[in-house]
Amino acid sequence: MTKRSILITGGAGFIGSHVVRLFVNKYPDYQIVNYDKLTYAGNLENLRDVEKSAHYKFVKGDILDAEMLQKTFLEFQIDGVVHLAAESHVDRSIENPDEFAITNIIGTIRLLNAAKKAWQNNFEGKRFYHISTDEVYGSLGAEGFFTETTPLDPRSPYSASKASSDQFVLAFENSYHLPVVISRCSNNYGPYHFPEKLIPLMINNVINEKPLPVYGKGENIRDWLFVEDHAKAIDVIFHKGKNGEVYNIGGHNEWKNIDLVHLLCEIMDKKLGRTKGASAKLITYVKDRPGHDMRYAINPTKTKTELGWAPTIQFEAGLEKTVDWYLANKEWLNHVTSGAYRGYYENMYSNR
Ligand code: NAD
Ligand code: TYD
Repeated sequence: MTKRSILITGGAGFIGSHVVRLFVNKYPDYQIVNYDKLTYAGNLENLRDVEKSAHYKFVKGDILDAEMLQKTFLEFQIDGVVHLAAESHVDRSIENPDEFAITNIIGTIRLLNAAKKAWQNNFEGKRFYHISTDEVYGSLGAEGFFTETTPLDPRSPYSASKASSDQFVLAFENSYHLPVVISRCSNNYGPYHFPEKLIPLMINNVINEKPLPVYGKGENIRDWLFVEDHAKAIDVIFHKGKNGEVYNIGGHNEWKNIDLVHLLCEIMDKKLGRTKGASAKLITYVKDRPGHDMRYAINPTKTKTELGWAPTIQFEAGLEKTVDWYLANKEWLNHVTSGAYRGYYENMYSNR
C-alpha cells in the first residue's frame, strides 16, 4: 500500500517536470501520477531519468476532460493534487486570450470538481494544491513588494486567467470546504525551460548567433528564482502548508531585463570561447510587449518564517548551471525548436 497517491498536472512542462523528479526521488513510498495533455510545452523527454520508476505513472490527459479525470482519480485512488497544468506564456495570451481562459479557468474548475467528486466530500487527509504566479498581483513601481494580502490586479490575459483560477480554488474551500492551498511564485529559470521565455530564448539565440530581442528599453524588472528552489518550496507547502492559505515564493533577486541579458552574454562568451562582448553585440531592442508589466518583486517572509523554506541557489551560479545544461543538451533544444516553434517565432518576432 502506497503512503500517498498524488496527481501532478502539467508534470511534463518546465516546472512540473522538476516537481515530478523531486517527488519521485524523494518519496519512494508515494505513487506519483503525471497527468499532462502534452501541448507544445509538454515534453516527456524532460522526465527520461525517472520514467522507469515503478511508483511513477504517466497519463496523457486533458484537465478539461471530466470523464478522464474521474477515471484517473478512481484508478489511482488519488488523495493529493499538485496542479501546474496551464497555458503559461504572456505573449501567447495576448495573441489568444480565449485559450488561456479555457485551459486555466475552466480546466481548473474541472479539476476541482473531479477532486470534490472523487473524495465524496470526505476530505480527511486530502489536499488540492494550486500553483499560481506573482503576476496575479499586477505590476509594481520602483518601490514595494507583493505580499499575500496585496490585492489582485492582473493586467495580461495570462495573469487574469490565473487570478480567476485562484479565486475558484478559494471558492471551493469556502463553499464546499475542499482542503486547498495556493502558492504564488516569481519568475523561474533553469533546465528544461521552453525557449519562448526570456532566459532560454536568449541562450538559444546566442548559441545560434541570432539577434537577442529585448522588449522596449529593457528596463522592466523580474524577480528570478532557480526552478529547483521552487520545486522544493512546492514540496514544503504541499506537506506543511495550512488549508485555505496563500504562500508567496521568491528569492529577492530582482534584475532589469537588459542587465540580465548582459550577464548572460558574459557567461556565454566564456563558455563558448567567444571574444568578450561578442554575444552582447547581438542585443536588439524591439517593439515593446503591449501592457508590459514594469516590475515584479515577491516578499516571501510568510513562507520562510512559517514553513522554513529558503532558496539555496545564488543567481549567477544558477545561470551558469542553466547555460551548462543547454550547451550539454543541444539535442533537446533542437527537438523543441524544430517544427511548430519556427512558425511561432516568425509570427511573434517578425513584426516587432
Ligand atoms: P509550461 O508551459 O512549461 O508547462 C505547462 C504544462 O501543462 C505542459 O506540460 C502542458 O502540456 C500542460 N498542459 C497545458 N494544458 C493542459 C491541459 N489542458 N491538460 C493537461 N495538461 C496541460 O509551464 P511552467 O512554466 O512549467 O508553469 C507551470 C505552472 O506554474 C503554471 O500553472 C504557471 O502558471 C505557474 N508558474 C510559472 C512560473 C514561471 O516562471 N514559469 C512562475 C510562477 C508560476
Ligand atoms: P517572460 O520570460 O516571457 O516572462 P514574464 O513575462 O512572465 O515575466 O519575460 C520576462 C521578461 O523579459 C519580460 O519583461 C518580457 C521580457 N522579454 C524580452 O525582453 N524579450 C523576449 O524575447 C521575451 C520572451 C521576454
